[in-house]
Amino acid sequence: MFKNQEITEGIYYVGINDRQKHKFENMIPIPDGVSYNAYLIVDEKTALVDTVEVQFGDVFINKIQSQLGDKTLDYVIINHMEPDHSGSIRLLRQYYPDVIIVGNSKTLSMVEGFYGVTDKTLEIKDAEILSLGIHQLQFYLTPMVHWPETMMTFETTQKILFSGDAFGAFGTLNGNVIDENIDIEPFWDSTALYYSNIVGKYGNPVQKALSKLSVLEIKYIGSTHGPVWKKYITEIIDKYDQYSRYHGEDGVVIVYGSMYGNTELMAEIVAQGLSEAGVQKIIIHNASKSDSTIIIRDIFKYKGLIVGSPTYCNELYPDIDSLLRKIEIRGIKNRVFGSFGSYTWAGVAIKRLTTFVETMKWTSAELNVEEKQGLKKDKYEECLELGHQVAELMKNHVDDLPHCV
Ligand SMILES: Cc1cc2nc3c(=O)[nH]c(=O)nc-3n(C[C@H](O)[C@H](O)[C@H](O)COP(=O)(O)O)c2cc1C
Ligand SMILES: [Fe+2]
Ligand SMILES: [Fe+2]
Repeated sequence: MFKNQEITEGIYYVGINDRQKHKFENMIPIPDGVSYNAYLIVDEKTALVDTVEVQFGDVFINKIQSQLGDKTLDYVIINHMEPDHSGSIRLLRQYYPDVIIVGNSKTLSMVEGFYGVTDKTLEIKDAEILSLGIHQLQFYLTPMVHWPETMMTFETTQKILFSGDAFGAFGTLNGNVIDENIDIEPFWDSTALYYSNIVGKYGNPVQKALSKLSVLEIKYIGSTHGPVWKKYITEIIDKYDQYSRYHGEDGVVIVYGSMYGNTELMAEIVAQGLSEAGVQKIIIHNASKSDSTIIIRDIFKYKGLIVGSPTYCNELYPDIDSLLRKIEIRGIKNRVFGSFGSYTWAGVAIKRLTTFVETMKWTSAELNVEEKQGLKKDKYEECLELGHQVAELMKNHVDDLPHCV
């Protein structure tokens, strides 16, 4: 009964929209939902590229059956084993008992590990080609973008790259799946949210994958989440190149934690200092209120970061502490940094923030501002000065890391 959208000759969209989940992977808020994209290629042989979360399996199978009619499903290509894409493998086997599961050696061992399935599999190697008739599928292993088994599949006649999670975005697809037919604007930020939180740690593997793919003439990118890229292929690849080199745009994120408002007030003054020195893009996050995944997204986007924390039980304020850990884990490179905070009897926060910036090997403002109790005139001036210093450092900061490969 489904009339699936044909993306290009013989290639149909059979993905699912999830408007039920509040948080993706129980962590990342998705008020606009998410799509699990899957694609069906109908030729002499038929192939499904990726599956969807099993909770949506019923509609998914229905979409496939609507397209195939009496034909059988010959192959399912598994570009990525995370359950949002591999979850329907067992279900698929119930409807198409002879379907061959195609993946690399790491994929197939995970198929066994997650689903106990070991039969009717086809192990492919890097650059190998699987012919479906007119359509030819060539496999590109792209390990650690962002799991060890991740690979991409290039359909060489229609020139569509099935990229797995790479180039993916949050947000459901409402009525049409191709970028040029939809309002693409909200997807840029959701691409950044996706990349920074999920792929963000793996800048080097992403650079390697981009270089491997650079030989391809790509007309479509069918990722596993969000729009099919057609009109904006250059833009989305550029974004991935920038993110994976940790390139930051001009702008400063100020993140602070505060119980009673003293550190919070300092954040306002630092922002004023930044503005006096000509910075226009200034984002302020209260670490206890803004979702940490949004803060991480913004830290990926902008080259300046100023962190404010009170001293709390001889340590950093807990939400700041945990944010710094998230930054460390992702190995975000090449930021301009500043720090400030309030204490009452023995300040520790600035020491911790100084150690942090040394560990990250970022450029730090000379000045950091630590106030005992309420903000007084001299430290008020210093907060302004901290803003000036960070603005100045940003002007001279060469933040374009060379390509890793
Ligand atoms: C639970 C708790 C633990 C604290 N631990 C310390 C501490 O170890 N050392 C210190 O100098 N001040 C400590 N303080 C005091 C705060 O750092 C100080 O009041 C600061 O001005 C709070 O900044 P805020 O107004 O931005 O929350 C603590 C306060 C609270 C509520
Ligand atoms: Fe994934
Ligand atoms: Fe995914």
